[in-house]
Amino acid sequence: MNQTKSSAYSWTPEKLRFYIDSLQFAKPHKKILAVIQDEFESDWRVADIGCGPAFIDFDLAEYVTAIDAIDVEPLIIDELVKEKKMLLENCIEKQSSPVLNDERKHELSKQVRDAGKIMPILKDAKTIVQGSYDAVIMAFFPISLERLIDFMMIATKKVFFIVHNHDYEIERNMFRANPNQIKAPELEAFLEPYNFKYKKHVITTEFGQPFRCMDDVHLFLNIYARGANEPERSKIRQRCEDRIEHTDSIEFPYFLSRTVSIAVFSVEIG
Ligand SMILES: C[S@@+](CC[C@H](N)C(=O)[O-])C[C@H]1O[C@@H](n2cnc3c(N)ncnc32)[C@H](O)[C@@H]1O
Repeated sequence: MNQTKSSAYSWTPEKLRFYIDSLQFAKPHKKILAVIQDEFESDWRVADIGCGPAFIDFDLAEYVTAIDAIDVEPLIIDELVKEKKMLLENCIEKQSSPVLNDERKHELSKQVRDAGKIMPILKDAKTIVQGSYDAVIMAFFPISLERLIDFMMIATKKVFFIVHNHDYEIERNMFRANPNQIKAPELEAFLEPYNFKYKKHVITTEFGQPFRCMDDVHLFLNIYARGANEPERSKIRQRCEDRIEHTDSIEFPYFLSRTVSIAVFSVEIG
């Protein structure tokens, strides 16, 4: 499968690369998982729907039996299949080293076991049969409220929503933003008339963009400020350049910080 332009979420190889760089550098998924990891049971089968790069799943795998990482976008699933293969090959190669201590050997077998639990699946989440999984994760999943109950019923025990706590209107043209994503207040208003028991955790986390060089900054702005007209673009460019920080990282010497407030909901089903 080789596709450069996507349909459902307008992923392109560049957008995906920027997003993966951001997750790798800022690691927001670590904070997100920390507040919900105890709510999973070890025998659960989980679906991460609209998984994107599925960063949360590589850490979550330790706590559950299996995770189907489901996305409608071939570019995403291709990338995940590659990522999983590389991780497994890398671990297996390292495991054969004669100088490995027991702690490291144990760590590598854990990584192999956990990566083996993740199954990348190319599928439209609308086609998943209700009751197919113990738990479902929807992280920044673009969905309309009308369809929400159908998606929630894919799970028999719990649904986890990871959403922005409020709108980032000011930065809409400077950062990844998707107006179809539900925000925390809408989700709470939606859940209110139902009898679902739910918990809401609010976390503040870095979710900024690292860059490999200044050309990368310009490429990023060209991609994300595409909708803006020329005066807006130059304002965005200026604001971005003013805010760029230098880092100690060799791989990512520049960083555009962005602190976000994220709400993590765990909703009990049935
Ligand atoms: C904003 S991204 C979030 C990615 C990931 N969950 C994260 O938090 O990093 C939304 C993802 O949902 C996927 N998506 C959108 N509609 C979908 C559908 N009907 N079925 C499966 N995946 C879908 C998109 O391709 C995209 O990868």
